Amino acid sequence: MTGEPESTVVDERTGRRMIILAVVVTVAAFLGASWAALSRLHEIRRDSRVIAASALPSIQSLSAARRKLGHIGVMISQLDRVPLVPGALAELRVVTSGLAVDVNAYFAVPTYAGEREDWWAVLACIEELRTVLGDLDASSPVTPSPATQARLAAAVDRADATLLASMDRNADQIEALTAHIESTRASAVRRAVVFNAVGVVLAGLLLAMALRSLRRQIAAERRAQQLLEARATELEAFAGRVAHDLVAPLTPTFLWLERLRASSDPTTRNAAERALRGVGRATELVDALFTFARAPREAHPAASSDLDHVAREVLGNFEELAITSQASLELVSPGPVPLEVHPGIVSSVLGNLVQNAIRYLGDAPVRRVTVRLQQTSGRARVEVADTGPGIATALQERIFDPYFRAAGRDQPLGLGLGLATARRLVEAHGGTIGVWSLGAGATFWFELPLASGQRA
Ligand SMILES: Nc1ncnc2c1ncn2[C@@H]1O[C@H](COP(=O)(O)OP(=O)(O)OP(=O)(O)O)[C@@H](O)[C@H]1O
Ligand SMILES: [Mg+2]
Repeated sequence: MTGEPESTVVDERTGRRMIILAVVVTVAAFLGASWAALSRLHEIRRDSRVIAASALPSIQSLSAARRKLGHIGVMISQLDRVPLVPGALAELRVVTSGLAVDVNAYFAVPTYAGEREDWWAVLACIEELRTVLGDLDASSPVTPSPATQARLAAAVDRADATLLASMDRNADQIEALTAHIESTRASAVRRAVVFNAVGVVLAGLLLAMALRSLRRQIAAERRAQQLLEARATELEAFAGRVAHDLVAPLTPTFLWLERLRASSDPTTRNAAERALRGVGRATELVDALFTFARAPREAHPAASSDLDHVAREVLGNFEELAITSQASLELVSPGPVPLEVHPGIVSSVLGNLVQNAIRYLGDAPVRRVTVRLQQTSGRARVEVADTGPGIATALQERIFDPYFRAAGRDQPLGLGLGLATARRLVEAHGGTIGVWSLGAGATFWFELPLASGQRA
């Protein structure tokens, strides 16, 4: 495959865009709802301030002023019966002046239309009281004339009525502000709910769309994967057929070359030797290809083998190669280890590992390959450790891929199929395979399930 299918890329892009949009919409809805609440909160705060800073104190002040006015009123109402002694007149004048100071202070900051007029009206009444009281003789007890008493009483009544009206207006204002606060609160809640609801619906829609395109993307990827697997299977079948078809002509070629090797002419003999080596190499490659293509993907039921026995056989097979490579082979085994796996499979896996271990020793001064067999909790473990140059960490996973070979100029010839075949065989039988190598030396290992009777 050269790249991802166009539709998959588009779906992924659309899905990602939808998710981003959904997040943006959710944040916008949240901000909108917050804005709606905050802007209304500002109005509510302004109204509450008017109530707390102006209307309520006004009512309290006005009622205090009315109490003073009531005091003056009571004194004036008794004038027809009780003559006004100089001390009482002085008290009356002082209270009236105090009332003027209070009223001036209360009305200093008028908060609504009409309050200033009230102020002027009350001050006019107080001025009238002060004028009348100022005209009275303060040296001896005095009984003001009925006309004077009437003027005083009228001034007190007018002032009281004005203060009362002013209190009523403040109370009305508080009522209106309270109603406004309530309606503002309700409208803030409504706006926030609308913002949130629109946000939730839009975000939900976008997420659903995102989910749809992501699902389509997953389906497309699955289809591509299946296609890939089908192609790989086809390729393997093809490789198997090619390998099979190549083996057929190689056999007679081999026989003819064997005959030529017996020739009395040294040049012919030499050429036959070289050709035979080439044919031998070709046969090896074809064999590896064939083995990989035919390596089963599933375990064969009802097969059994003894790991210890197979390991001894495999090491026996590699004795000659070990001698040629000046390497020693060693087996550490606990004795028989029964497996439910065909001996051919175990032999193929272990053979690949041992062959590699000897093959890739390079020019290591210590040349040893150790095969260790272990039996642990339901599984058999095999380790093949060598004293060669080891394998770089970055390559340790890749060497199990088909046709992968570590690039080394003086690396012996091979197809890069040995480890891929071993992995396929081990995994088909419910096992695992791997390698660890830190600096010098590599240890390849694989584990296979023990025969059912041994798993206790
Ligand atoms: N014991 C080892 N020490 C160092 N490198 C190794 C060892 N075993 C494998 N390798 C590296 O892993 C690569 C893949 O090994 P694999 O057995 O799959 O293929 P191959 O030996 O190259 O060819 P084939 O086994 O098909 O003949 C090798 O080419 C080699 O570079
Ligand atoms: Mg190999």
